[in-house]
Amino acid sequence: MISIIRFPFGSLSIGWIVAVAILSFSTANPNSAVAQDTPVTFTKDIAPIFQDSCQTCHREGAIAPMSLMTYEESRPWARSIKDKVSTRTMPPWYIDKNVGVQGFRYDRSLTDDQIETIVAWVDAGAPRGNPSDMPQPREFAERDMWHIGEPDLIVPIPEPFVVPADGANWWGDLFSESGLTEDRWIKAVETKPSAEGFPVVHHAVTRLQESLDADEGDFLNEYAQGKNGDAFPEGTGRLVKAGSVIRFNMHYASIGKETTDRTSVGLTFYPKGEEPKHELFSRALAQNYDLDIPPGEDEVRHDSYHPFPNNVRLTGFQPHLHNRGKRQCIEAILPDGNTQTISCATWDFGWHIVYNYEEDVQPLLPKGTFLHTITWHDNSASNRWNPDPRNWAGFGQRSSDDMAFTWTSYYELDDDEFAAAIEERQAITDND
Ligand code: HEC
Repeated sequence: MISIIRFPFGSLSIGWIVAVAILSFSTANPNSAVAQDTPVTFTKDIAPIFQDSCQTCHREGAIAPMSLMTYEESRPWARSIKDKVSTRTMPPWYIDKNVGVQGFRYDRSLTDDQIETIVAWVDAGAPRGNPSDMPQPREFAERDMWHIGEPDLIVPIPEPFVVPADGANWWGDLFSESGLTEDRWIKAVETKPSAEGFPVVHHAVTRLQESLDADEGDFLNEYAQGKNGDAFPEGTGRLVKAGSVIRFNMHYASIGKETTDRTSVGLTFYPKGEEPKHELFSRALAQNYDLDIPPGEDEVRHDSYHPFPNNVRLTGFQPHLHNRGKRQCIEAILPDGNTQTISCATWDFGWHIVYNYEEDVQPLLPKGTFLHTITWHDNSASNRWNPDPRNWAGFGQRSSDDMAFTWTSYYELDDDEFAAAIEERQAITDND
């Protein structure tokens, strides 16, 4: 199923611009419960799904509270598994699949078929099935491996961080000097816990600041289990200025035994003197400083806008909200006045997920487009992250305040490059 969005622009009469939404489904499980009448069993149907979509986090020594490697380990959780997968709470991936561009790198979500299979399995009493159907155990990469290859520069958090055996989640910022004495262009970046720290790092988001007391700076990279660093598209790069400081936004969780972590960020440079054609930006856009979130309200909407004076190719986005966040949509208001939804995602304060588009669906936005960000907050008691539903909330830096903006990754194209990108997109569409 393919849907194509088109609108007129500039000198081309028709531009195939925003998205070719290719539903990237249906590869996974030909033996789906829906497809045949034989009973759904753990060994035949469920284990392969858990291997693909759950075990990076649900195994001994990883971040999730229980292992889903074997039948014995999974069976007691059957009811909860049905609940979490059918509400799409697990795996954590909160893109709305019914609107906007589809096709993301590191997409760890389940297909509708897979969800139906899991639900059918639980409803049938979660049977084991024939042990000989059990697939070989999945192998995992070494924990100290850099997926981007050995980086040219590794910057760790300033000191090893000790996470106590028991304790509340810890959120906070840590700062490290990069030590760079000259400007460098990077072509890949990865943020990674130390091998020992792996189970306690719930997330790590890195940013680049020009100096210690500079503003928040640009988004650099996000670590989440199952994600393997960012190698930038051919011909694009990020500029890291001499003297830059890396800001690590960490979320640590206790695991019942004292554990030390030293998360670091690895950078791979372009050779000295070589500059990529395009600077890749990752910026906080459409910040809304004027939030008005009354106590107890469960759906408070705010709108904010960012103009793009140049043509852009949008490579990824991440909603940025705080505890009371509920959902964010981004749409393009095109120069001709038409609007097009780009993406919507539910927000859960416990997960900071970057949604990177597959290259062939990266939105192409002509100059003069406005990025329109629509954000909803939930200040009611039903939001489990709400610090106190009796309080009014507004914009602020404290974690008890709230925020609404979009981290946006993009690079700019001149008119010729933009026309070429559209032609290329058109060719993909024609071939489908
Ligand atoms: C990116 C890591 C990650 C992936 C992938 C993942 N989980 Fe989880 N899961 C977690 C974490 C961490 C928790 C603890 C709650 C939280 O932090 O949101 C959790 C909690 C759960 C719970 C709730 C346990 C309870 O206490 O009731 C269930 C059930 C669950 N996951 C099932 C799954 C299944 C099934 C899959 C795959 C289809 C999956 N998860 C994929 C990280 C993950």
